[in-house]
Amino acid sequence: MIKCTNVQKEFRLRGNIIRALVDINLEIYQGEFVFVQGPTGCGKTTLLNVMSGLDVPDDGSVILDGEDIARASEDRLSSIRRQKVGFVFQDFNLIESLTGIENVEALLWPTVLRSKEIEDRAIQALRAVDMLERKDHYPRDMSGGERQRIGLARAIIHQPRVLFADEPTGNLDPEAANHVLKLLKDLNQDMGTTMVVVTHDNSLTKYGNRTLKMERGRIVSGSKK
Ligand SMILES: Nc1ncnc2c1ncn2[C@@H]1O[C@H](COP(=O)(O)OP(=O)(O)OP(=O)(O)O)[C@@H](O)[C@H]1O
Ligand SMILES: [Mg+2]
Repeated sequence: MIKCTNVQKEFRLRGNIIRALVDINLEIYQGEFVFVQGPTGCGKTTLLNVMSGLDVPDDGSVILDGEDIARASEDRLSSIRRQKVGFVFQDFNLIESLTGIENVEALLWPTVLRSKEIEDRAIQALRAVDMLERKDHYPRDMSGGERQRIGLARAIIHQPRVLFADEPTGNLDPEAANHVLKLLKDLNQDMGTTMVVVTHDNSLTKYGNRTLKMERGRIVSGSKK
């Protein structure tokens, strides 16, 4: 599903070069549930960004679903992101002026779908994350766990082939964190969605079938299935 070959990524900051990804070689297979772990600053977010087409590597190739996204045009990348990839952000990225269901529907705009179909799909996604009852609430009137679940509904409404989640449970208590992980696991099993999830929480990695460990921009274990 995803194959990274010799991927490098550096950041330059006030004359310093930060090697965020160093010679990453990695294959993630369709239907896998992979966790990414490692100390702060080791490159986890950068790796997700590069694998999902949110950022481009300096060198190397990233094949996503058969296509080299490291060399794709910006137009092509944005269509790949819209069609194939879902992203759950740590800070939820909800639009405060929209209700729960509008936040989910917004991911399909602009679209050729009719409004009835958009609503049906949004309701389906909200039901999957157990948030139908809160669909007309604004984000400010939701708990952290509820906001996170709306964020998850946003990430799955277009039925992505791969879902990237960057510390999706970072702000949640253990019970809410387990709930979110169970939802991800169900999606993985029912829809075959490939999952790549960053977490600091060792108690959650039991939901996956592989854990990648990163240190200083390198994958130090788990790169092979
Ligand atoms: N836009 C940027 N400009 C400069 N340096 C950056 C940029 N983004 C990331 N970095 C640096 O690259 C390294 C990897 O950052 P990254 O965000 O991938 O780490 P992380 O493993 O996700 O950390 P955390 O667990 O804290 O989220 C860090 O040293 C960071 O300071
Ligand atoms: Mg990060």
